[in-house]
Amino acid sequence: MKKIILVAGARPNFMKIAPLMHAFEKSKVFEPILVHTGQHYDVKMSGRFFEELNIPQPHINLEVGSASHAVQTARIMEGFEKVCEDEKPDYVLVVGDVNSTAACTLVAAKLGIKTIHYEAGLRSRDRSMPEEINRLVTDAISDYFITTSEDADDNLKKEGIPSDRIYMLGNLMIDTLVANLTKAKSTALDFPLLNRKKHILLGVDFMAQAYGVLTFHRPSNVDDISSLERLIKIWGALSFKIPLVFPVHPRTYKNIQKFGMQSLVDSYENLYFIDPLGYLEFMHLVSASKFVLTDSGGIQEESTYLHLPCLTVRPNTERPVTIWEGSNKLVGVEAIEQEVDSILAGKGKYGNVPALWDGKTAERIVDRLEKIEDN
Ligand code: UD1
Repeated sequence: MKKIILVAGARPNFMKIAPLMHAFEKSKVFEPILVHTGQHYDVKMSGRFFEELNIPQPHINLEVGSASHAVQTARIMEGFEKVCEDEKPDYVLVVGDVNSTAACTLVAAKLGIKTIHYEAGLRSRDRSMPEEINRLVTDAISDYFITTSEDADDNLKKEGIPSDRIYMLGNLMIDTLVANLTKAKSTALDFPLLNRKKHILLGVDFMAQAYGVLTFHRPSNVDDISSLERLIKIWGALSFKIPLVFPVHPRTYKNIQKFGMQSLVDSYENLYFIDPLGYLEFMHLVSASKFVLTDSGGIQEESTYLHLPCLTVRPNTERPVTIWEGSNKLVGVEAIEQEVDSILAGKGKYGNVPALWDGKTAERIVDRLEKIEDN
């Protein structure tokens, strides 16, 4: 058996690791070992995703926690080097673009372990995003590249990666969505509002298709006092037209407190701020909504699969296929209200689902990797 370490670090990794672990566990060629770096560590951001998505308990948890980028990356590298020395894996497979992705690839590559990057080749060309740095570093030193769309293949080829190391095999987030959508839609949505003594219930407080979902956590949107204030005022203005539900990321929540903006948020009655949700509740909330207004990466893909209008409040995206083919649209802050009006007037973008976003990517990945001959 060949030993392969799979690395999971932060929330968006867990939906990608779940189908992969399930497929690797059936393999007769690979012995999978799951390492959680602990970049995200609490029940809301980590624990319950393992439970809901049936991910086996990690064999090893590095428990690095939150810190500055350099400290977090260094802690992951220090812990992961020891894991690689003890386990002596044949391969290390990393997913996505978080600090854990880059840190573990760097360690493995220097130890001469073959590395595989799933979600390789995505480029926003915006180096002010920490994720873009992580993508560039990871792809510069990986051995094998698994991509979700052809534009990523083109990016890698332009950077000098040989075509025979690039495998376009589809989208693991969509595997998880396909596997869980029916269950998600029957998961009860009953959540306490943050800082208000009230619960809200989908179907009672607001009806399906009659609300929008917000998710914002990018440093460029929420770490700066004036951009966060401007966004809250825009969400507030929109909430007079349609109720908005926001499962608030811890980064955004902390900034709202730090900048003393909670009373501004509370002044909008139809702006519902709630704790981060589990996967099933979140996909229920999104799939029954009218639109999503976001700065996330993964949600651009999930809404494309759901044919749900998605407005991404960023100047660029590393996932352009969700714009060319899917239901995603990039919007500047100044255009948000106009774009939401257009969706409410029935002129939203519904789009198509890109090739191989079909729920079978994990199987294809394991099948492809079983055929690699490099030892
Ligand atoms: C990280 C990823 C980002 C991803 C996002 C999804 C990097 C560089 N960024 O950003 O790509 O889109 O995760 O969530 O890897 N916190 C908790 N509980 C947790 C984890 C974090 O309360 O379980 C708090 C931390 O204390 C910190 C804040 O949330 O203050 C932000 O966490 P951090 O890991 O720094 O980055 P994210 O913004 O989550």
